[in-house]
Amino acid sequence: MKTYNIALIKGDGIGPEIVDEATKVLDAIASSEGFDIQYNELLMGGCAYDITGDPLPKETIDTSINSDAVLFGAIGGERWDSLPREKRPESGLLRFRKELGVYANLRPAVVYDELINASSLKPEVVKGVDLMVVRELIGGIYFGEPKGREGDRAYNTMVYTRDEVVRIAHTAFKIAMERGKRVCSIDKANVLDVSQMWRETVEDVAKEYPEVTLSHMYVDNAAMQLIRDPKQFDVMLTGNIFGDILSDEASMLSGSIGLLPSASVGAKIGVYEPIHGSAPDIAGQGIANPIATIASASMMLRFALGEVNAADRVDAAIKQALSEGYRTQDIADYGAKEVCSTSEMGSIIANYAAK
Ligand code: IPM
Ligand code: MG
Repeated sequence: MKTYNIALIKGDGIGPEIVDEATKVLDAIASSEGFDIQYNELLMGGCAYDITGDPLPKETIDTSINSDAVLFGAIGGERWDSLPREKRPESGLLRFRKELGVYANLRPAVVYDELINASSLKPEVVKGVDLMVVRELIGGIYFGEPKGREGDRAYNTMVYTRDEVVRIAHTAFKIAMERGKRVCSIDKANVLDVSQMWRETVEDVAKEYPEVTLSHMYVDNAAMQLIRDPKQFDVMLTGNIFGDILSDEASMLSGSIGLLPSASVGAKIGVYEPIHGSAPDIAGQGIANPIATIASASMMLRFALGEVNAADRVDAAIKQALSEGYRTQDIADYGAKEVCSTSEMGSIIANYAAK
C-alpha cells in the first residue's frame, strides 16, 4: 500500500483539537481510497518552548524536511507574549517557514453559498467570491535587515530582491493560468522604493504570460476594494505584510475565519495550515471550527500527495456537511439545523468523505 509520511504539528491553543479532526478525515479517506498515512508528531510554538526552551526544536525542522508534507494547526498565546522575541512562538513559525524555504503562501477565499448570510457584507456583494491571495512568505519586512531597538528608537526594514519578486510573481501567474487569468499586484509604489521595484519586476514577469491580464493596486485601495467589490479579484499577488493583512480581511468575506485553508509552498516540502490563529480564548472547549484545517488537509492531498480524487471527496464532504445544516458555534446563527462540537463536525465530514 502506498504510504505517506506527514509531519504533524498541532501547536498551541485550539491547534490540537482541530488537527485531530483533520487526521480523522484523512484516515477515513485514506482507507477508502486505499493508501496509508503515517504521522510524525512534532513540537512547535509555545508548547515546544515549554518543553525544550526553543519554539522550534531542530528535530521539528529535520523531520519535516524528510516528510511528504507538513500539516500544521496554530501557535501562540498570551502566556508566551512577554518572552524575548526569539523565544516567542511566532518566531518559531517564521524560522520554520524560512528553513523550509516555503516562499509562496496561497490563501484562497471562497464563499460557501450555504453560509452566504454569515458574511458581514451583503449577500449580493459576496455571493460567488472566489479569489486567491498569493503572499510572499519569507522576505519583506518580516525578515529584512537592519532591524533592532536602540533606546527609544526601533526599526524594521522592508527589503525585497528582484529574484524574490520574480519567483513569487511566477507562482501568481501560473496559478492565474489555472483560474481566471487575472493578477492584481498589490503594493505601495506611490511611497515605497521597494514597492516600485516590486511593480517593475512583476511587469517584466508578466511578459512571459501574455494570456494573463495584470493590474496594480495600492494596498490601501486594495483593502477598500476587497470590501466594496471583492468579485473584481481573481489572484491577488502581494508581499509578506500586505498579504498577512489582506488575507485576514479576505477571510471574513466567507463569514468565519474558521473556514479557510492555506498552503505554503515553493520548496520540496509544503506546509498546510488554517489561516486562523490558536484562539486561546476558546481552546479546550470543543467549539472551534475544524473546517479550515480539514480544508488545508485537502489542499495537502491535492498538491503535496497528488491524491486529487481524495481531495475532491473531502471538499465535497465539507460542502455536504454545511448544506445539511451542520454548524459549529462560530457559524451557528446561519442556517444551523444542528449545532455541533469540533469533534462532531470532524466525524460528520469524515463519514461523508468516506462514503
Ligand atoms: C499568519 C500569522 C503569522 C504571520 C504570525 C502568527 C507570525 O498571522 O500566518 O498569517 O504573520 O505570518
Ligand atoms: Mg496573519
